[in-house]
Amino acid sequence: VDERTQALRELYQDATKLYHHLLVNTQAGETALNYLHERGLDDATIDAFMLGYAPGNDFLLDYFQNKKVDYQLLRTSELFVVWDDGTLHDRFSDRVLFTIRDQYGHPIAFSGRRLSADDTQPKYVNSPESLLFDKSNELFNLDLARDSIKKSHDVILFEGFMDVIAAFQAGVKNSVASMGTSLTIDQVRQLNRLAENITIAYDSDAAGQNATKRALDLIQQNSQMTPVVAHIPDNQDPDEYLRSHDAAALNDVLAHHHENPIAFNLRFLRQDRDFSNQNEVFDYIDQALHLIASVDEAVVRENYLRQLSDDFNISFDALTDQIRPMLMQRQ
Ligand code: CTP
Ligand code: MN
Ligand code: MN
Ligand code: MN
Ligand code: MN
Repeated sequence: VDERTQALRELYQDATKLYHHLLVNTQAGETALNYLHERGLDDATIDAFMLGYAPGNDFLLDYFQNKKVDYQLLRTSELFVVWDDGTLHDRFSDRVLFTIRDQYGHPIAFSGRRLSADDTQPKYVNSPESLLFDKSNELFNLDLARDSIKKSHDVILFEGFMDVIAAFQAGVKNSVASMGTSLTIDQVRQLNRLAENITIAYDSDAAGQNATKRALDLIQQNSQMTPVVAHIPDNQDPDEYLRSHDAAALNDVLAHHHENPIAFNLRFLRQDRDFSNQNEVFDYIDQALHLIASVDEAVVRENYLRQLSDDFNISFDALTDQIRPMLMQRQ
C-alpha cells in the first residue's frame, strides 16, 4: 500500500486504541461502559469488537497534535470536522464508538451512538467515506465472521452493529451487517464468494421489511446463494429479541423460522392491503399468481394455489385458469 494509506491506517489504529482505553479504563468512559453493560455486552465482547468512547471536546485532536501528527493527514482522516476557519474538531462527541474494520481487521471508520434516549441528537453519527473507507464495499464484521461463514456455508445478514455483536456474544459467529444503508451488489458478490446460503434477518419493522425486499431481489439477481428470510417475532430487532428471550430462542428463529423468497414475497405483498376492497383482492391475487408462476415445482405451486383458494374463498379452478398464461410465459 502507498504511504498515505499506511499513515492513515496507523492513525486509525492509534485512535481505536485510545478510544477503547478511554472506554474501559477511565472515569470519562464510565457512563458509556455502563451503557454497554446494560445492553448485555460483556468485557470480552467489548474487547473483541474494539468498542470505544469518544469524549469530544477535541480530546482526540489534542492527543494527535501533542504527538505532532501532520495537519494534512488529520484533515484527510475524516476523524475531524473542518470549520470554516480551517480548524479541526473532533467528529465524535460523547458517543459510544463502534469500530468498523476492513476485511483484514484494520480499523477504517467509526460509528458513534448517542448514550441517551434524547432524540434531538441523531442516534448514530458515521464516518464519511475516506481513502480507507468505501462504504458500499464494506460489511461490518466480515473479518471475524469469514471462517465461520466458510465452514457453515451460511451467512446471516443483520441490519445493525448491535445485532451482530449481541449475536456473536451469544455464539452466532457467522453474521455481518450492511450498516443500515441498502445492501449493494458489491457486498452481495463478496458474500457469494464465501457462502451458499444467506439468511436475511433484518428488523421486523416496516423499514426492515422494505430493506428485506430489496436485499432479497438483489441477492436473487446477483448471486448463486440460496436466500431465506428469518422473521423476528414481536416487532423486534434481533438484538432486542435476544435480550427479551435468550440465545437458544434467537438461534431457533435464525435456523428454523424461515420463509423462502416466495413466502416472504406473498406476505410482503399482503401487508397494508385492505381486503374489504374487491379491487385490492383481485390485484393481490393477480400479483400473487405471478409470484407462484415463478416457482419451478408443480407440486409447490399447487400448494400455494390451494392456500390462496382457501384464504380468499376462490375456486381452485379459477386460479388455475388465471395462472395458465403466466406459466406459458416462463422460458
Ligand atoms: N443507522 C445509521 N444512522 C441512523 C440510524 C441507523 O447509520 N440514524 C444504521 C446503523 O448502522 C444501525 C443500522 O442503521 O446499526 C440499523 O438501524 P436501527 O435498527 O435504527 O439501529 P440499531 O442497530 O437497532 O441500533 P440500537 O439498537 O443501538 O438502537
Ligand atoms: Mn432498524
Ligand atoms: Mn435495529
Ligand atoms: Mn437495536
Ligand atoms: Mn398480470
